[in-house]
Amino acid sequence: MKVPLLDVPAQNQGLRSDLIATFEKVLDSGYFILGPEVEAFENEVADYLGVSHAIGVSSGTDALIVALMAAGVGAGDEVICPSFTFFATAGSIARLGAVPIFVDSEEASFNLDLSGVDELVTEKTKAIMPVHLFGRAAAMGKVKAFARRHSLVVIEDTAQSLGASICSKMCGTMGDFGTYSFFPSKNLGGFGDGGLVSCEDGENAEQVRRLRNHGMHPKYYHSEVGGNFRLDALQAALLRKKLPYLDSYGAGRAENAAYYLEEFSKLDPSRVTLPLGGGVGEGVTWNQFTLKVHGERDALKDYLMEHEVGCEIYYPVPLHKQLCFGGLPQRSLPVAERLSAEVLSIPVYGELGEKRRERVAEVVNSFFKL
Ligand SMILES: Cc1ncc(COP(=O)(O)O)c(C=O)c1O
Repeated sequence: MKVPLLDVPAQNQGLRSDLIATFEKVLDSGYFILGPEVEAFENEVADYLGVSHAIGVSSGTDALIVALMAAGVGAGDEVICPSFTFFATAGSIARLGAVPIFVDSEEASFNLDLSGVDELVTEKTKAIMPVHLFGRAAAMGKVKAFARRHSLVVIEDTAQSLGASICSKMCGTMGDFGTYSFFPSKNLGGFGDGGLVSCEDGENAEQVRRLRNHGMHPKYYHSEVGGNFRLDALQAALLRKKLPYLDSYGAGRAENAAYYLEEFSKLDPSRVTLPLGGGVGEGVTWNQFTLKVHGERDALKDYLMEHEVGCEIYYPVPLHKQLCFGGLPQRSLPVAERLSAEVLSIPVYGELGEKRRERVAEVVNSFFKL
């Protein structure tokens, strides 16, 4: 049995007729950029998150860029971020001429580790960008205390963790800005690129709204330079149809994760480490289920591929080792480097079904019996 790493069509299949009707409605409206569908979607996401403002933008990357711009980050400024994350986290900082200051990660949670980071702060440091990686909240208590100590803006990269929470606080709503992605494989998967910025502060929200539309205010007047970071009406209208199911998609992944944690509980911990289960007060959304395989990760990857079980290395190169950042001062970040050598993510999407997840477990378990 073939098990793909992702199965995006399966999730949308159940909503097919509603999605087609929505497409036709937008088609007939002739209103394709921003407008009432985007506003309605923004209000619904703001309600879901329990936050005052939500601003739809063109992608998760653009959400980061526009939040950084609204935070006043520009050329020469420094922004603290983890090295073990998707490229966009640091790419967005670099795109503005600012400098990513890479920090290491916690071994168990995959999220940034702030120990020893106080000494990296300089007068150029403007912001800190925690990433809620793989569906699990970063240690926001520590992040906020750190930010307060050094007067930094907090931008939460929540691209992978819409709906995740810690102590009943939604990821993305604990700092100054939260940024989200609707890339098709994300917790709320869209039909192309899309993203969103959330914030509590009304002035920040107004600035993000201006910046996403060339800094224009009022029409054809520009006191600042923004960009075209607008969300399409079609994207918003289709996402509105999926938003009510967001928590049920997460519940499906959580069920698969619980199944794997049980199935793999007897594996030799010197060969493989399982991801943490959800701790007390932690709402994990399992955007990925990521094993750490000690010394034989690539062999397991080949074995899974041979047996037609999809898997992927998120991420094979920590960002401080990427060629494009080779000109930055280099520090060793041992955990990020080790994670990149050991991680392997396996299919966890809610539509996996019992047969396919049993097959995944069977193939993984059979590798460790070799
Ligand atoms: C951690 C993280 N940040 C940012 C992004 C960028 O989102 P998008 O692909 O919507 O631009 C992603 C998407 O993969 C991500 O995983």
